[in-house]
Amino acid sequence: MAATVQLARTHLMLLLLFLILQLVSGFILDSDDYRRRVSLELNPGLNSSVPPGVSLLHIQARGASDTLHFLFCSLGAPTLLLVHTNSTSSSVKVDWPQFLSKNDSGSLQVEPKSSMLYSSALVFTRLWEYEDVNNTADPQNMPSSSFFPPYELQSFTWGDLNKTLNSTTRTAQLCGGDGNSSFSNGSLCLAISAFESVGRDHIWPRLLHNANSSQVHVWLKGVTARSNYSRFSLELQTVGSRELPSRVDVVRSIDDEYTPSIFQVSEWVSSPVNSTSPVLGYSQWKPVAYRTVAHNLEGATPCRHSSPQPMAELPPSGLVKAYFGNGYQTSGLNITFGIAGDPFYGVTNYLSWTVLVGLGSPPIDSFSPLVIVIMAVGLGTPMVLILLGGVCVCIRKRQAEPLAYEPIN
Ligand SMILES: *[C@@H]1O[C@H](CO)[C@@H](O)[C@H](O)[C@H]1NC(C)=O
Ligand SMILES: *[C@@H]1O[C@H](CO)[C@@H](O)[C@H](O)[C@H]1NC(C)=O
Ligand SMILES: *[C@@H]1O[C@H](CO)[C@@H](O)[C@H](O)[C@H]1NC(C)=O
Ligand SMILES: *[C@@H]1O[C@H](CO)[C@@H](O)[C@H](O)[C@H]1NC(C)=O
Ligand SMILES: *[C@@H]1O[C@H](CO)[C@@H](O)[C@H](O)[C@H]1NC(C)=O
Ligand SMILES: *[C@@H]1O[C@H](CO)[C@@H](O)[C@H](O)[C@H]1NC(C)=O
Ligand SMILES: *[C@@H]1O[C@H](CO)[C@@H](O)[C@H](O)[C@H]1NC(C)=O
Ligand SMILES: *[C@@H]1O[C@H](CO)[C@@H](O)[C@H](O)[C@H]1NC(C)=O
Ligand SMILES: *[C@@H]1O[C@H](CO)[C@@H](O)[C@H](O)[C@H]1NC(C)=O
Ligand SMILES: *[C@@H]1O[C@H](CO)[C@@H](O)[C@H](O)[C@H]1NC(C)=O
Ligand SMILES: *[C@@H]1O[C@H](CO)[C@@H](O)[C@H](O)[C@H]1NC(C)=O
Ligand SMILES: *[C@@H]1O[C@H](CO)[C@@H](O)[C@H](O)[C@H]1NC(C)=O
Repeated sequence: MAATVQLARTHLMLLLLFLILQLVSGFILDSDDYRRRVSLELNPGLNSSVPPGVSLLHIQARGASDTLHFLFCSLGAPTLLLVHTNSTSSSVKVDWPQFLSKNDSGSLQVEPKSSMLYSSALVFTRLWEYEDVNNTADPQNMPSSSFFPPYELQSFTWGDLNKTLNSTTRTAQLCGGDGNSSFSNGSLCLAISAFESVGRDHIWPRLLHNANSSQVHVWLKGVTARSNYSRFSLELQTVGSRELPSRVDVVRSIDDEYTPSIFQVSEWVSSPVNSTSPVLGYSQWKPVAYRTVAHNLEGATPCRHSSPQPMAELPPSGLVKAYFGNGYQTSGLNITFGIAGDPFYGVTNYLSWTVLVGLGSPPIDSFSPLVIVIMAVGLGTPMVLILLGGVCVCIRKRQAEPLAYEPIN
């Protein structure tokens, strides 16, 4: 009889615990239900044809009381510009002749100007190749003789975004090369994705994105390496307000379920000096690249970043030159692919890396439901047993008490 009651109680407790955890995990996982209406437009305001190799993609993400404009352009070094406005009717205005001359600040504007809250740009400036004869994968401590002349992405010939634009999946792809023999059978590609709401890609690294972010997936495919020991690094630059210095935070996690073997995420953020106020914008990536087209564990290779350096001048980007005037600063860093002992680029002739660019604080991976259930069982069961033990002892005592203090008549 007592055993049955105990069993029923155990079940009840477990059920309760499970329900509570479901509720909590539901809150953690679904708390971010912010949505935006996203539309894609190519070469806004242009009514003639552009010179080949130039396309400007405007992604407009309208919220309840604000608009996020993402602009992605191949004029000069490929650039993703993010502009946040507090108006739902802000728009992008381009003075095309001036814009194409790459020399006029103000030829691209987001109007009305007074609605602008935050803007920053991420520029893909150079691809460095070095000969790693000692297999150290440490370009920062390598003689300059190990480096080949870098590929300047500003002088690449890029494909037409119009041919790869997909308004259904909200993606577009830019592929290019320098026209020389190394790139005769290969290319460097950048694929941009815009998002209406929270989610993840189905391929690794499966970065968590939300309505305030866009993702750029970069890959280098089929390019002939200039040595048998070639490794690559990618140089990135950000442009932002001078009052918002940038830094890279590395955030650790104990859950690698979405990106197996990777327990970190790097966040290149801009936030006000001396302020506890939150981050205003970010570029976020997991320190992993893939050497195989199928992103799997065998093809995963760690990557590292150098510390951000202030740059003397604005990057060679048409979009940056057209949008930013004075009062902006540039900082740059290199993402280095591979670590000592990893296979060289030439083994697979493939390298791919993903970065998320967005407004506000970077999204944080929460524990997946599976991990929560495992933790619940692992931690919950002993707790339930202890609780039950306590309850049993109490009941025993209660039952025993009347006997012990029975008055003697
Ligand atoms: C092209 O756009 C400009 C400025 O918006 C306008 O003045 C011009 O008439 C347009 N040309 C055509 C052919 O639509
Ligand atoms: C850019 O503009 C400046 C001043 O407006 C001018 O001196 C310079 O020659 C221009 N450069 C190009 C490449 O058009
Ligand atoms: C938008 O921001 C600007 C500058 O911060 C401010 O002057 C303006 O009143 C704001 N507009 C709305 C609709 O909040
Ligand atoms: C490779 O290692 C050797 C011996 O340690 C050293 O002398 C040489 O400078 C290294 N080469 C490079 C490119 O780092
Ligand atoms: C994009 O391509 C389509 C068809 O290929 C064409 O009708 C359209 O005008 C192009 N748009 C731009 C902005 O070039
Ligand atoms: C866009 O992508 C979807 C899903 O992959 C595909 O079905 C569709 O054909 C694509 N549209 C264009 C225009 O490529
Ligand atoms: C690639 O070609 C361009 C011109 O087409 C040339 O200026 C550049 O030096 C070449 N780069 C290499 C590494 O050969
Ligand atoms: C490009 O591919 C063709 C055919 O596969 C081959 O003959 C050529 O040597 C390759 N070029 C380079 C630079 O690898
Ligand atoms: C996205 O931006 C909007 C407007 O600034 C904000 O209300 C919302 O909380 C943001 N969502 C996330 C996930 O950061
Ligand atoms: C690269 O390796 C191949 C085969 O191992 C060899 O034939 C070739 O000479 C090497 N090239 C260089 C530049 O070392
Ligand atoms: C930031 O704080 C430090 C000390 O707390 C102070 O010396 C410095 O002047 C402050 N800088 C700014 C820009 O407020
Ligand atoms: C990237 O690495 C190259 C080669 O070491 C170096 O010359 C360049 O200054 C680095 N760029 C940045 C922004 O640190």
